[in-house]
Amino acid sequence: MSGPNVLILGAPGAGKGTQSSNIADEFGVEHVTTGDALRANKDMDISHMDAEYDIPRAYMDAGELVPDEVVNEIVKTALAEADGYVLDGYPRNLSQAKYLDGITDLDIVVYLGVDKNELVGRLTGRRVCDECGANYHVEFNPPEEEGVCDECGGDLTQRDDDTEETVRERITVYEENTEPVIERYEEEGDLVRVDGEQTPDEVWADVRDAIESEA
Ligand code: AP5
Ligand code: MG
Ligand code: ZN
Repeated sequence: MSGPNVLILGAPGAGKGTQSSNIADEFGVEHVTTGDALRANKDMDISHMDAEYDIPRAYMDAGELVPDEVVNEIVKTALAEADGYVLDGYPRNLSQAKYLDGITDLDIVVYLGVDKNELVGRLTGRRVCDECGANYHVEFNPPEEEGVCDECGGDLTQRDDDTEETVRERITVYEENTEPVIERYEEEGDLVRVDGEQTPDEVWADVRDAIESEA
């Protein structure tokens, strides 16, 4: 039997990456995330596209969306190879949502609700493992030894787009482009809301229950 097809939505810093790792482990599905895919290909040449900048890095470091053409292709390829997935970071606008409708069927859409005032502190305090990608927070989820990954011993660093200025721009871009996507799934009746302001473990308990009962 194939695993569930889960879509996880939420603002920058809502905890999508944190909960997606739990979902992938628990349900044995693929974690498909456009953010990580783009970070691994930040200097890819996209100059042949009719786009403002020549590489994804230029959009990401400014907090703007990378062109749909680039991310649609990433998602199409990744979903075709996955036997069940948790999709994180996509769709981010209505045109991507429409594209997604045409390439897959979702079993459940989970929305992590977090107040905007929480997000900046979460993102500027985030640290990510260079080796395995594990997420930490200097205050809310610190590693045992500062700067060192608990899982693999790798170095913990700050993402280039986690400066306060870029974080604020990412939140604005989210409000303008992605909130309409959330409204759309809500209107279609597919959306399950989870309180993302609880502790990571409490959020996970609610996410797991939602997937077990809906998917
Ligand atoms: P992406 O990597 O997707 O970033 P994002 O959506 O801004 O979300 P984040 O990864 O920052 O947050 P998260 O929700 O995963 O939170 P996390 O679990 O880490 O995208 C980056 C860029 O790529 C975009 O700006 C764009 O340029 C481009 N891009 C990506 N997809 C695209 C697309 N589809 N179209 C166009 N462009 C695209 O948690 C955050 C922090 O909070 C961590 O430190 C964590 O430890 C902590 N934390 C987590 N849960 C809790 C909790 N319950 N309580 C307290 N702290 C918590
Ligand atoms: Mg993330
Ligand atoms: Zn690690």
